[in-house]
Amino acid sequence: MSVVYLNGEHLDESEARVSVNDRGFVLADGVYEVTSAYGGRLFRLEQHVARMRHGLAALRIDYDPAALGPVKTGLLEANGLVDEPASYVYLQVTRGVAPRTHAFPSPPVPAGVYGFARPYRRPPKERWLEGFEAVTVPDQRWARADVKAIALLPNVLAQQVATDAGASDAIFVRDGMAMEGSHNNLFAVFGGTLATAPKSNYILHGVTRDFVIELAGRLGIEVEERAVPAADLFKADEVFLTGTTTEIRPIGKIDGRRIGDGAVGPVTRRLFSEFLSRVAAAD
Ligand code: PDD
Repeated sequence: MSVVYLNGEHLDESEARVSVNDRGFVLADGVYEVTSAYGGRLFRLEQHVARMRHGLAALRIDYDPAALGPVKTGLLEANGLVDEPASYVYLQVTRGVAPRTHAFPSPPVPAGVYGFARPYRRPPKERWLEGFEAVTVPDQRWARADVKAIALLPNVLAQQVATDAGASDAIFVRDGMAMEGSHNNLFAVFGGTLATAPKSNYILHGVTRDFVIELAGRLGIEVEERAVPAADLFKADEVFLTGTTTEIRPIGKIDGRRIGDGAVGPVTRRLFSEFLSRVAAAD
């Protein structure tokens, strides 16, 4: 049984009902966040709230996400996830319920808030050490990828290309540059230095991305936030993806071609080991 949050109430998932006129349903008019919890403690909640505030402002949805911390904690409690080593909480805010029109409802209607929580299943160490496989896909998203919009069709289609190819991830390529994954950010290692696409309107400003850059700083690993040509990924020593539901995932093959010597490299291993010890201590 899963308990969800819907507009102020905790309900069994099977009891939760959303109007067909919810603008999230008919227009994908809303934003969302996914936040990790380690040992029941929300990880970097302020950054997630700040990013949601940024998205709500971009979409001109009048809603204060400050209240979302207690909602997320409530979902962890209601689902018995407080003692779970790792879990995640999803929360979305839509423009609310009104007969379908493209322009905003006038007068405005209350925003719709929906959330759920689930345990996070980290791949076993042996599996992680085998590395994962990605495919590249053209980045056909809109030019506001910095907004965590619930409209995810290009991401869905990209991920299905990966799944159909037996790969774990899809990497978006825009104008020849490797931007990010369908639901994670991308890093490549060249001669011990990390490279990742700079923050812009073309990528999501990942909370895990920021955390990994911080970890690299602590470990004395240099980071360059710069455009990475997709063709250079094949010359990288290591490639990995980062995200709330990805943590740090090593990529050993892209489009069927081996990266480095195919084994999970030392920089990725050091970062993940630091990552795990820091989240266990609930950063
Ligand atoms: N996705 N890039 C994209 C396109 C994403 O959708 C995500 C997160 C990230 C990583 O951001 P963060 O480190 O803040 O999780 C990067 C979430 C987890 C999802 O869609 O389920």
